[in-house]
Amino acid sequence: MGTTMNSVVGVSTPRIDGPLKTTGSAQYAADFHFERMAHAVAVGAAIPSGRIRSLDASTAQRMPGVLLVLHHGNIGPLYRTAPGDDNATNSEVRSAFEDETVRHWGQHVAVVIAETLEQATAAAGAVKVEYESTPANLRTSLDDYSGPRKSVSKRGDPDKAFTDAPVKIDATYITPVETHNPIELHASVAVWEGDRVTLYETTQGVVNHRVVMAQVLGLPVENVRVVTRFLGSGFGGKLFPWPHTAMAAVAARRLGRPVKISVNRRMMFSSVGYRPRTEQHIKLGATKEGKLLALRHDYLNVTSQLDDFDEGCGEATPYLYSVANLEVTGATVKRHVGAPMWMRGPGAVPGLYALESGMNELADELNMDPLQLRLLNDAVKDESNKNIPFSSRHLRECYEVGAKKFGWEKRSAGIGSMQRDGKVLGWGLAGASWVATRLPCSASVEFCANGRLCVRSATQDIGTGTYTVFAQTLSEKTGVPLESIDVIIGDSALPDGPMSGGSMVTGSVLEAIANAANNAIARLQKLAAGTEGSPYLDAKVEEIAFTGGRIHGKSQDPASGIAFADLLKMARLNGVSADGKTVPTWEDPKAKGVSLHSFGAQFVEVEWEPEIARLRVSRIVTVIDAGRIINPRAAANQIAGAAVMGVGMGTLEGTIYDQRTGQPINGSMADYLMATCADLPDIDVTFLDYPDPAMGEFGARGVGEIGLAGVAAAITAAVHHATGVRVRELPVRIEHLLESKVLEA
Ligand code: MOS
Repeated sequence: MGTTMNSVVGVSTPRIDGPLKTTGSAQYAADFHFERMAHAVAVGAAIPSGRIRSLDASTAQRMPGVLLVLHHGNIGPLYRTAPGDDNATNSEVRSAFEDETVRHWGQHVAVVIAETLEQATAAAGAVKVEYESTPANLRTSLDDYSGPRKSVSKRGDPDKAFTDAPVKIDATYITPVETHNPIELHASVAVWEGDRVTLYETTQGVVNHRVVMAQVLGLPVENVRVVTRFLGSGFGGKLFPWPHTAMAAVAARRLGRPVKISVNRRMMFSSVGYRPRTEQHIKLGATKEGKLLALRHDYLNVTSQLDDFDEGCGEATPYLYSVANLEVTGATVKRHVGAPMWMRGPGAVPGLYALESGMNELADELNMDPLQLRLLNDAVKDESNKNIPFSSRHLRECYEVGAKKFGWEKRSAGIGSMQRDGKVLGWGLAGASWVATRLPCSASVEFCANGRLCVRSATQDIGTGTYTVFAQTLSEKTGVPLESIDVIIGDSALPDGPMSGGSMVTGSVLEAIANAANNAIARLQKLAAGTEGSPYLDAKVEEIAFTGGRIHGKSQDPASGIAFADLLKMARLNGVSADGKTVPTWEDPKAKGVSLHSFGAQFVEVEWEPEIARLRVSRIVTVIDAGRIINPRAAANQIAGAAVMGVGMGTLEGTIYDQRTGQPINGSMADYLMATCADLPDIDVTFLDYPDPAMGEFGARGVGEIGLAGVAAAITAAVHHATGVRVRELPVRIEHLLESKVLEA
């Protein structure tokens, strides 16, 4: 069976799709053009709350090139998706133009379709909408909430243990609304043929998108096809469909022409999701020696009027530390804003900012090294889940390796006590964790008579290297070189694959590819024994081996055999293909009864120049335990990118709403601050690379999101160490730092 001469899994491999991207020949959704294609531009509500009193499209309709204006009065039937169906997850409960109620600024109220984008844009500005405003709740803080809270995890008696604890931390941590800002804007191109529609989409899940759009448009699922060849990232904002897709599909059907809609950057701040604001109350109780006695984590997150979006900030809290008494609760708070959506590392990232900030404050309270506090309280089993063992947990080693690389033992604890080149240094650290699950999915592998090998699966490459790791896996299984492998993904017509979400594609699909490859090789072996002219005609299948793309006798040198392409030609076949499946972790005996998570440690240094109040993140060391690393180059790139986002989360990002209108006032790339090259130091990424026995043949848990977890808490700890200022509301701003008593280096 497919043993290889040169291993390719685990080897740093450049992107196989790199040349397509760098030459501009990779087709992203908005790059698709068709004969007679028309352009759609949405009109957004100008109030945060109220009703549309009248909508007058007559002027717009008479403008040059305008073909159609759709709104509540003429969109026709669109449907919601069935609640509770995991295979049909939508972003918003409400369908496009469903009613005349306005629930947030920028909510789509009409869409104009014209011959050109410029004509549609001009006419969109001429649609006259009159509103009847009703009072909007745009209050930024959520601290007025007094409703019920859902208990997420509970053990022991955390309130009593907290009361009795000799050392306590009781603090609230706040993360602002953050907006997904992938380079690629959301777009959809709808093309009908009869009663079948093809949607060229910016989606992180072609399969889910297809099922949702079938339900929304009221079509049989087989009449919808979704294509996403390339994505310019998504960060979660493109996981599920947004209403603009249905608007384009209806318009295209009505006009009998292809229609393209693009969501512009400003609209992306109001109509395609955001990471919701969180307010998280952390209570920690400990002995004087630092042993945790009590942990409470009560979080709130903002949500829209109709969508009850739970950010899940308690994701990592219940299992990270050994503590006998713990409770996590959560609740959502409604405001007149658009629907929130998962954003890179949802739940765990804001959650760990709060928990790890609390742990850093506890270490200071105890006069203890925060690294020692972590090691003292490290969990060896999952105390939140019947004390089951972890499948593979090396968090302690992450801390130890990271501390060594960072030089943590040289730390002096006093505020402002460390200096270099006339600048004050601050050091901070935090732990990281993220989910790991293998999702059910399929792939097919085809050996072709032209000597090429093809793998197909209805998943997509969000930009992280999915094309490349699939090719690596198939090359590993078959010995066929990477340059002879074609990866066909990004099309819902292919065998069902998973969403590009939760950093789960690699860990999920590799097993299906390996199984499909094994099955296809078995077919080749059978073919070798049954094909006229084959040197192995009538041989026992067990005697026939497959190595490096060649069929040969088991005891013979592979060079003595025949190339698979020659066998296929001999058999007059264009190709031989087979399917393979991934068994999900919840059905795998090796993954049942173990707690599956990735872990990591983040070390951050900041430089503080008190004279000019200038703060810089000057070093980041990150050590990640995410199972086996399939492509260290792509994986390190993911983790470094996540650390970049961590610097943004810690020091720059935050969407601000105008309190009168609900309009995001920094809703542009110029006004919404994100970390860019000039904000960043070199980022040192290390992987422990322990294969996870619960994650199948390859032992990969997948990487990406975990790299963001913990970074912001390490930054605020470093800021405190340098400046003495305790920032509990992100991002760290210059206004916070001006309170520093550290006045010179
Ligand atoms: Mo990620 S927030 O699971 O796309």
